[in-house]
Amino acid sequence: MRILLTGSSGWLGRYLAPMLRRQGHEVVGLDVTPGDDTQVTGSVADLATVERAFSVGGIDAVVHAAALHKPDIARHPTQAFIDVNVTGTLNLLRTAVSAGVSRFVFTSTTSLMISQAIRDEASSAAAWLDEASGPLAPRNIYGVTKLAAEGLCRIFHLEHGLPCIVLRTSRFFPEDDDTLTEPSGENLKANELLHRRLTVEDAACAHVLALDQAPAVGFEVLVISAPPPFARAEAGAIKHDAKAVIRRLFPDAEALFSARGWELPKRIGRVYDPSRAERVIGFRAETDFAVVLDALRAGQPLPFAHDPTYVSPLERRRATSVERDVGVT
Ligand SMILES: NC(=O)c1ccc[n+]([C@@H]2O[C@H](COP(=O)([O-])OP(=O)(O)OC[C@H]3O[C@@H](n4cnc5c(N)ncnc54)[C@H](O)[C@@H]3O)[C@@H](O)[C@H]2O)c1
Repeated sequence: MRILLTGSSGWLGRYLAPMLRRQGHEVVGLDVTPGDDTQVTGSVADLATVERAFSVGGIDAVVHAAALHKPDIARHPTQAFIDVNVTGTLNLLRTAVSAGVSRFVFTSTTSLMISQAIRDEASSAAAWLDEASGPLAPRNIYGVTKLAAEGLCRIFHLEHGLPCIVLRTSRFFPEDDDTLTEPSGENLKANELLHRRLTVEDAACAHVLALDQAPAVGFEVLVISAPPPFARAEAGAIKHDAKAVIRRLFPDAEALFSARGWELPKRIGRVYDPSRAERVIGFRAETDFAVVLDALRAGQPLPFAHDPTYVSPLERRRATSVERDVGVT
């Protein structure tokens, strides 16, 4: 297939574009910042740019991953989130329908399931989050606009029959968390693979499977994350004393962690459950917490990317233009 991939210069795009090509697809990349896999440079918020991307002809499928995301809240106004995440998605859906594409995959986020109450973790049990969770009350403009974009995907499926899969993806970024500083970056990522993270390779793989399955599936919203080792019945136990549950499941985990100066999490306040994605599109992340422990046991490199220096392409471009404006070279 000839696939239009938005966000092709980004962290996900740089893994997904080569993966799609290895599957025999042709990729047309669209991004507001230049990159090796980006042929069309411009904003998805600009309908003319989207139409220019489709004008190459023969686009069979769209993967829409371009977005302003959570760290961008500090750098961009609310209106920019509406323009990029909502209008941008509408531009792509409209043009995709006019072009008669056979499928549309939208990269959404588990973050839109996190209300202020879930974030505050005041409950006595971990919040168990899957596609049935609700009512949804996203706590910031990122979540609000991603939820709106999901709604647009839904109505384009209903009104135009466009096969569409929405992937509510958990964290896969390589940089440090923008709010948490403890524990250290690698330790935090390893801990998060228990309940709220996956590798970028697994995230890319979910997109490939969604593309394959969309025409048969019709419309779906799917949570995409590494499979948690806990059962839903343990939501209370992991909130009360996560270490005790982890020790039971992985008896050598604590020793392996201490040898590296790492700490297991004391409490876990939320779990993303990706089991529906496995049933519907056959997606199961390859890298989970057990794979991290295997690597630690074998003294092998960690099976996930960690790069505290990573800066998103859009932010790099913005920072460069600010420096230029204030005369820093
Ligand atoms: N990184 C994560 O942990 C994570 C978690 C959940 C969901 N997501 C979603 O995954 C997708 C990809 O994220 P990423 O981690 O690759 O981020 P990224 O910032 O590395 O890449 C996003 C890309 O989108 C591009 N972009 C931004 N505004 C644009 C516009 N107006 N028009 C065209 N391109 C534009 C940027 O230039 C960038 O290359 C996003 O939709 C994000 O919301 C990411």
